[in-house]
Amino acid sequence: MDHRAVPRLAAPAVAVLLALAALASGCTGATVQGRPGASGLRDPYFPRAGNGGYQVEHYALDLDYDPADGELRGTAVLTARAEQGLSSFNLDLSGLKVDAVRVEGVAARYNRTGNELTVRPAEDLKKGEVFRTEVEYHGRPKPVVDPDGSEEGWITTDDGAVAVGEPVGSMGWFPGNHHPSDKATYDVTLTVPEGYEAVSNGELASRTGVGEGRTAFAWRSREPMASYLVTAAVGPFKVTTGSTPSGVAVYNAVSPEEEAGSAAALAKTSEIVEWGSGRFGPYPFGTVGAIVMPSETLGYALETQTKPVYSGAPDETLVLHELAHQWFGNSVSPKSWKDMWLNEGFATYAEWLWAEDHGGVSAQRRFEAFLAGDTSVDPGADGDWAAFPPADPPGADHISDEPVYVRGAMVLHRIRQEVGDEKFFDLLRGWAADHRHGNASTADFTAYAQRRTGHDLKRVWDVWLYGEGRPKAP
Ligand code: TRP
Ligand code: ZN
Repeated sequence: MDHRAVPRLAAPAVAVLLALAALASGCTGATVQGRPGASGLRDPYFPRAGNGGYQVEHYALDLDYDPADGELRGTAVLTARAEQGLSSFNLDLSGLKVDAVRVEGVAARYNRTGNELTVRPAEDLKKGEVFRTEVEYHGRPKPVVDPDGSEEGWITTDDGAVAVGEPVGSMGWFPGNHHPSDKATYDVTLTVPEGYEAVSNGELASRTGVGEGRTAFAWRSREPMASYLVTAAVGPFKVTTGSTPSGVAVYNAVSPEEEAGSAAALAKTSEIVEWGSGRFGPYPFGTVGAIVMPSETLGYALETQTKPVYSGAPDETLVLHELAHQWFGNSVSPKSWKDMWLNEGFATYAEWLWAEDHGGVSAQRRFEAFLAGDTSVDPGADGDWAAFPPADPPGADHISDEPVYVRGAMVLHRIRQEVGDEKFFDLLRGWAADHRHGNASTADFTAYAQRRTGHDLKRVWDVWLYGEGRPKAP
């Protein structure tokens, strides 16, 4: 047949026909059919946070940092599993210069728009495939500004730096799937000049001189971690180590000028871990500790996994709060940023319980004081705890407002009033055990609480958790 007798088709039309033919044949050929992974997980408050189409199993971050010039040089190796066929996928990264991306050791094409780094592997990835992505990058990280105006990400000090990631700051210092629903294990190696300590989550696997007066600190987190809880701190810290009576390794890194002021509160660490293990069940991690930065480094503390970051010397209640998050927030992590009260309401109620168990006012008296606005019992009782329901903050700029903390704690106290102490503490322990190292939502909690206690708690949810307006005394 004379091929010129066949009507000529434009090249794009041929491509379309071939693609249709592949679809019609059920894609049984050798070519893997991938499509782009989503650029966000549609979180109700941070829709672009995280990415679709894969889940990360492990991050190996290798970072070189020089406090003198603020330059970060990094390699991030992500081991992930494809949840669909992927022609491309996204990582979240803010600022910094990407120098190379490889997938399965082969150079990959990539481009950047906003906080999205889109990676197009040379070959499509198959659904279920475990693949390695390597990103080389460098630059001076800039802080990420929160919707509420606070700063997170990579924060520099006069003589060092610290990384804090809640809610979306981690994209400011390493590429990743930055949403709490995708937890992974981490190895973080920090190489810094002589005279500096470098600290991250978990245990210190090695500390090695690497020449030119530089030391590599290799940290390992064996338990899964949400990416907002990953930290890296560099500074002239004073380091102390020890162990709790039950064998949890303690590692405290404290800025020299904060040492005296921190000593009493940090000395409570073991007692807090033991107390929490009684109230909430076994401490979920193999290590515990603290990173105390110079005061005014940040406007807040953060419960970074196993080693909370403090901005200036913490008091006992703050250490208690951040360590309570190790059970509630870090081991049991929120499914979305709407579930924030599961972190903050629980950590606040832990403060109330700690006081009750240590000769302070009872949680019942404190609950009544908040209802009455009585500041003689709790100095915060005249605050705006009733401004909105804790399970429904009115925007991303309100996820760390008072109702999430205090009214969240009041929800827990209302449950306790309904079911009694025995069932209430069984509920706290059961919740921590059944969702250990996982993720949970508010709906998961309300269903669980009813099942575990055998009580109908609908009124508590309607009025305290989801209801508008200021609830009245029950
Ligand atoms: N989670 C911190 C605490 O309670 C507070 C915090 C710091 C926070 N940064 C945040 C809460 C960003 C919400 C969003 O100790
Ligand atoms: Zn908190």
